[in-house]
Amino acid sequence: MRISDPQVLSALPDLGVECRPGLSMAELTSLAIGGTTDLLLIRRHEHLPELMSLLLGAGIAHRFLGGGTNVLVRDGELPWVVLQLVRSEPDVRIEGHFAYVDAAADLGRMVTSCAKNDLGGMEGLIGVPGTVGGALRMNAGAYGMQIGAFAREVRVYRAAERRAETLRGSQISFEYRHTSFAPDDIMLAVKLELPSRPYREILEGIRVCNQKRRASQPLNQKSAGCIFKNPPGASAGRMIDELGLKGHAVGDARVSDRHANFFVNAGRAGAGDMLALIAAVRERVRRAYGAELEEEVIVWEG
Ligand code: EPU
Repeated sequence: MRISDPQVLSALPDLGVECRPGLSMAELTSLAIGGTTDLLLIRRHEHLPELMSLLLGAGIAHRFLGGGTNVLVRDGELPWVVLQLVRSEPDVRIEGHFAYVDAAADLGRMVTSCAKNDLGGMEGLIGVPGTVGGALRMNAGAYGMQIGAFAREVRVYRAAERRAETLRGSQISFEYRHTSFAPDDIMLAVKLELPSRPYREILEGIRVCNQKRRASQPLNQKSAGCIFKNPPGASAGRMIDELGLKGHAVGDARVSDRHANFFVNAGRAGAGDMLALIAAVRERVRRAYGAELEEEVIVWEG
């Protein structure tokens, strides 16, 4: 969608919003898939209510993008603009055991910033690409830890109420790759409480996780991480692998040879190729195991 309304275009700079017209979502997502639209970069959270009113009044639909690392976007001219928060500087502030982190901060860099202040616990998240906000929304985790375990407060913009609100950790349910945030809540910032650990010990934990990840995941290929959530007590990757589906492809969308729950864009895959591959693999798993695989990747069709 292209914003053509001159009133909207002229109001954006006053709200601290930069419009980048006609961007390809393939450039903004780790899968390198997706059609074109205008990207609105938001520099000042406090103007979100006015921005939302402006877009609503002009009939401009929108979607919020975090780091673009867990999303599969449809092809073609998109019927909505994409909004993205620009990270503030500094994006991590430490006070004692607490880290105050901007939602647009890079997840891996946040983990290392905390480590430099002798705050650990999140070593497993090293190597998970994306933003802190995206990780919070889906309660990202790896190697036995999940980010939600450390969240003491989350500041969200509640689109339904058109205002920002600070939620206490106890008001949010963090489950396996799922949270109780409303679908249109926008993560703004988080206060994490982290255990004290010597920097060297944290670095060693980071090194071990990096090694495990490099050994089992296709890190140098275009993917959105795991495509499916693991069903309770089972591993989607192992099931897909056991069915001999590594390397199975629809066009350039391909099941990774390294980890069967990673679907990679091996060239110029379109969203349709990736969706067809997801459907085909899900059907094979359903028939063989009677298990219904649920997508972990967020699909932006509509
Ligand atoms: N396995 C296979 N073949 C494969 C992949 C895995 O046999 O192609 C086997 C492994 O040998 C292992 C078991 O399946 O015995 C589990 O594999 P792995 O340790 O790789 O863990 P996973 O359950 O596949 C989960 C998360 C990952 C996270 C790792 C490490 C999900 C959907 N995936 O993968 O998270 O990095 O554990 O903790 O929960 C993500 O969410 O995007 C993601 C990559």
